[in-house]
Order: sequence, then C-alpha cells, then structure tokens
Amino acid sequence: MQQEKNVNSLNEVYDADAFRDAGHRLVDFLADQLDSMKAGTNKQTLPWADPSDVLSEVDGWASSERGDLFEQVFRRCIRLHDPRYMGHQLMPPAPVTALAGMLTDFMNNGMGVFEMGPAGSAMERWLIERIAEKFGFGSDAGGFMTHGGTLANLTGLLAARARQCPDAWQSGEPSNLAVMVSSQAHYCMDRAARVMGWGEGGVIQVPCNDRFRMDVLLLEESLAKATAAGKKVIAVCGTACTTSTGSIDDLRAIGQFCQRQKLWFHVDGAHGGAVAFSEKYGHLLDGIELADSIGMDFHKMLLAPSVTSAVLFKNGKDAYRTFAQDADYLLRSDENEDPWHDMARRTFECTKTMLSLKVFSIVAAHGWQVFDENVTHLIELASSFADIVEDSDDFELAIRPQANMLCFRFTDVDGDLSQANARIRTTLVEVGEFYIVQTSLNGETWLRTTITNPMSTSQHFRLLLDHIRELAADPTSIRQT
Ligand SMILES: Cc1ncc(COP(=O)(O)O)c(C=O)c1O
Repeated sequence: MQQEKNVNSLNEVYDADAFRDAGHRLVDFLADQLDSMKAGTNKQTLPWADPSDVLSEVDGWASSERGDLFEQVFRRCIRLHDPRYMGHQLMPPAPVTALAGMLTDFMNNGMGVFEMGPAGSAMERWLIERIAEKFGFGSDAGGFMTHGGTLANLTGLLAARARQCPDAWQSGEPSNLAVMVSSQAHYCMDRAARVMGWGEGGVIQVPCNDRFRMDVLLLEESLAKATAAGKKVIAVCGTACTTSTGSIDDLRAIGQFCQRQKLWFHVDGAHGGAVAFSEKYGHLLDGIELADSIGMDFHKMLLAPSVTSAVLFKNGKDAYRTFAQDADYLLRSDENEDPWHDMARRTFECTKTMLSLKVFSIVAAHGWQVFDENVTHLIELASSFADIVEDSDDFELAIRPQANMLCFRFTDVDGDLSQANARIRTTLVEVGEFYIVQTSLNGETWLRTTITNPMSTSQHFRLLLDHIRELAADPTSIRQT
C-alpha cells in the first residue's frame, strides 16, 4: 500500500498536463509583471520585510498549490526589471533567457563530457570562439563557461600557476607564490590566492590613483618589495572594471609590464569585460589582448541571468595544463589528448549546466548587436546620471564614471556625511521604492548605484535624488544604523 502511494506521487511528479498548466500560468504571470515593472507603476522595487517575517511566510508557501507558489515567491523578490532598481551589478535578464533556463533545467544535460551535453558543448565552443575574437585573441585561443566570475578568476590563476610553477599541482609547493592586484580588486582574488594555499601574503596590493585605477607606476616597486620579502610573484591581475566605482585599470601598461617581467597577465573582466562588445567604448579595454587569461560575466552587462560566466585563454592549451588528473569513469586517458568537447578535462567543475544556451538564446533572438546597444546605453545612462548629480548643489559625485557604476552622496546634512548617507540608505531600502547600495571609498561611506536596467531613464535618476532629499528631510523616518 505504502509502495503504491509512493508510485502515485511519482506519477504526479512527471504529469505532463500539470506541468503544461503551471508553465502557461507562470509565463502569463511573468509577462504581466514585466509590463508593470517596465512601467514602474508598482509601489516597490524591493518588497522589504524583516528576515524573520519572510522566514515565517515560508511555511505557508510549502503547502501552496504549484501555481500559487511561484506568485508568492515573486511577491517577496527584489525586482530587477523595475527601472528604479539601481543596486548591485546584476542585470534584469532578457526574458528569452528565462525560457532558455526552463529548457536547460528540464533537459539537465551536464557539460562534463560531450555525450552528456552535445548541444550545450557545441554552443559553448561556438560562443567562446566569437568572444575570444572580441578580445583580440587569435586562433589559438580557447576557454569555457563557468558558474560565476569568482570561479573564472580562480581558474585563470590556477592556469597561471600551472605555467609558472608546473610542479605545484603535484607537490603543493611552493607556498610563497603571489599575484599582484590593485587595492580596489574584488575580494575573490584574495580568496583564490588563499584557496591555493598562498595565505594572506598571496595577494600583493598595488595602490590606486585618485580615479581608483591601479597606479601602474608603482608596479616595479611593488614587485621588487614583494621579491625582497621572499615572495614569488607569478601573475598580475588587471581589474576591468572595479566593483565600487567601475574604474578600468590601464590594461596595456599592466600587459607590457607582465611581458617584460615574464609574468602571467590575468584580467578580471567579471563586470567590464562586456565593454569589449561596445563599438563606442571598447577602447576602454585597450591592451586586453595582451592578457593570458580573462574572466568575464554575462550576467552583469550582457542581459543574461546569474550566474553565467566564462574564462578565456589566449593560448587554449593553457587550459589543458591546469588540472592534470585522471578520472577513469569520465575521462579515459587513452583518448585524444585535447578533446575540446569533453570539457571536464579543463574545468574546475565536474557537472556543469548548459550555461551556453542562456547567452546563445540572446544572440539567436536579438543578434550580437544587442550587446553593443546595451553596454553602450548603460555607460551613457551612468554618464547622464553623473551630469544630474554634478548639477545638484546638495549632492556630490565621487568620480566621473568610466562604466555603469556611480558613487555619490547627499551633502546637505548636519554632522557626519558617512553616517548620514548610511542612514539614508537604510531607510531607502526599507521603503523599497528604489534600490541602491553603498560602498566605502577612502574610509568614507558613499551611496553607490549600478545602472544595469536599460529601461532606467534620467527621470528615474531625478526621482531618486528627490526621494533621497525627502528621506533626509524627515529625520523621524531615518532609522539609526
Ligand atoms: C570586479 C569583479 N570581479 C569578480 C566578481 C565576482 O563575480 P561573480 O559574482 O560572478 O562570482 C565581481 C562581482 O561583483 C566583480 O565586480
């Protein structure tokens, strides 16, 4: 009896009609929401609630009907498609990618070996070849997609170690290796160094100039100091662009330094690698073609959902050297040495989803030029926002943006600017009409926006500044942080 019940619920799991009904309902619901989010007519971008209140709602969700569940979850999600979303670096994904996601999850193909994902493996190679060209790499280039820029950057550094210290994979030594990064580099570089056993000293920070770009004149000195302290620097990482201010390092200068010093040159292009797609602003990445490896995300400026990333190598063979392992059940060593289509040889991940379809579906539906349009538009939106801030007497801009991040603060406050801006942001999040974040620059707190929604306009930026003025003018609404 018990056994029969189990089989019945399993039949339900795979019931095609129930799937069809719930799927149609969800797509209709999301399409309606998309319309109202685009119009910005919803009260809130972030339906803020106390974490414990949200947790207590979850019990109810667990017993809801299949169709209701998605609508209930949606109601507690932050809405990236609302043009008042200007916070962290995630994009409102192109809706076609949600359909690609449905096919990806339904088919559940793994990208470890070709036979587990023929379509995905081929699309991945197709995309990588074209993206490598965008970065100015030649026909020897290679690479693959990863779940996130953090993993792409770690993989780039692992490849650097494999080339600079070929024995390290086997022996684990030496542990005095290091990578040089700017003081504004993302924390994932520090994490990668520690994961590889290099410890706290595994990341050497080169100071930045007043535009938060690596001060490349200090590269020689930083290398000499690190070497004198017993470090073996194997790589330099240029950041394009930085997380806080969107500043792009001088990649040509760093690349030339690496060539002179015979160091691996990695570019963390998690956010700004996408700028290569912009005809107008691609020059900001001048010198990226000198890189040995580049990590990049599609979910920050290229219309894809998170996490959809890639690591590219100027010399695709570097990727095969990184993980020298046999896994008899998966990869047979009697096979062709470098089969591009069995990706587990090169990837950190074993099972990997069909990431390529998310990007490929955008290209197929909207053409490559949509990336150019989007990146160019987002950069120009940030620039128009900067104009508005500069024209406002009661706001101050940290620096003119190079990419689509903008840091600013409200100055018409009594007392400490950092504390006042942090309080404004806390209240702003709880009100939930707009969503922005904050960052620390030279020890001071600034409001930070990333313009990732191409549907945001100058009008939204003006409304945001008015909203901040209102919050600041009513101190009772400002919660103590
Ligand atoms: C410069 C930079 N590098 C790396 C990362 C990490 O990328 P991901 O979140 O895709 O792992 C980020 C994320 O914000 C970033 O801004």
